[in-house]
Amino acid sequence: MSGTVLVGGGTGFIGNHLIKALKNKNYAVKIVSRMPGPVNISWQELNSRGLPQNTVAVVNLAGQNVMDFKRRWTTGFKQNVFSSRVNTTTSLAEAINKASTKPKVYVAMSGVGAYKPDSNKEYDECSPLENFDFFSKLVLEWEKAATLDLESKSNCRVVTIRSGVVLGKNGGMIKQLYLPFYLGLGGPVGNGSQYLPWIHIKDLVELILYSIENDKVEGVLNGVAPQLCTNKEFSNAFAKALKRPALIPIPSFIFNLILGTERAKMITTGQKVIPQRTQEFGFTFSFPDVVSACRNIVKEA
Ligand SMILES: NC(=O)c1ccc[n+]([C@@H]2O[C@H](COP(=O)([O-])OP(=O)(O)OC[C@H]3O[C@@H](n4cnc5c(N)ncnc54)[C@H](OP(=O)(O)O)[C@@H]3O)[C@@H](O)[C@H]2O)c1
Repeated sequence: MSGTVLVGGGTGFIGNHLIKALKNKNYAVKIVSRMPGPVNISWQELNSRGLPQNTVAVVNLAGQNVMDFKRRWTTGFKQNVFSSRVNTTTSLAEAINKASTKPKVYVAMSGVGAYKPDSNKEYDECSPLENFDFFSKLVLEWEKAATLDLESKSNCRVVTIRSGVVLGKNGGMIKQLYLPFYLGLGGPVGNGSQYLPWIHIKDLVELILYSIENDKVEGVLNGVAPQLCTNKEFSNAFAKALKRPALIPIPSFIFNLILGTERAKMITTGQKVIPQRTQEFGFTFSFPDVVSACRNIVKEA
């Protein structure tokens, strides 16, 4: 498939990696951003002028960074976290519905936050979702915004990727952990027994490309590596890759204090999530286990 891929929020961590990969495959790329620029269109332009010509696929990666330690977890910030995901996802779906020539596919990001942390439960894409807190409500609304009758109105495939924590250099969790771990000050959060659904950035980018290029892929895909991993196992693997110890556990209350308890739950608790449908569609992971993922990230950093 050639043509233009329109990427909402394509200026961020995942976007940078995705756009390189799309260009390598000879796609033209346009980004929807709050900042105007030569390659970017604004959200206002998208709403008024619609999709760029020859858009064959749309991807949404926009969203206010939840783990911005400088921002307090206030009602206003939570509203921003919510609307930056739900409204952008809706805007792109509406633009697809209005387009005279439809793209083949809309790939929307989502998260694993709608799976309730429970060490006895294993979740796949078909597990029922519950609205039990801020993040689960966000995921439900975010995913609803992506569908917006697209398949019936626009004959456009919708793929929703429920991503775990994305591990890669220059962004996300690794960017925040690199220095303390490099200094030998890293360690698990709390007792480290909570699960950490994760995916290597290269696998996530490949999964987005796979979703764009395979006409059979549709619906929800868990964007998580197949190997289940606890927070402690991740800490050990990352410290070992850096040839450092991971001896110093960070008590959960410190995250509760810095981030607020509701937001800190993203780190202090976790879910066992498996990529059942993702693998059933034939996708294979280059980094199925956390040890090889961390080694690769440290080698490239
Ligand atoms: N990284 C992870 O571990 C992870 C895990 C699960 C899900 N996700 C989801 O995947 C998406 C991309 O993640 P990422 O790590 O690439 O995020 P990122 O680096 O923070 O980039 C997200 C992009 O969203 C746009 N954005 C930020 N605040 C916004 C706002 N208030 N309104 C509209 N747009 C806004 C920004 O683009 P402009 O400044 O150009 O507008 C930014 O470049 C996010 O929705 C995130 O929730 C990420």
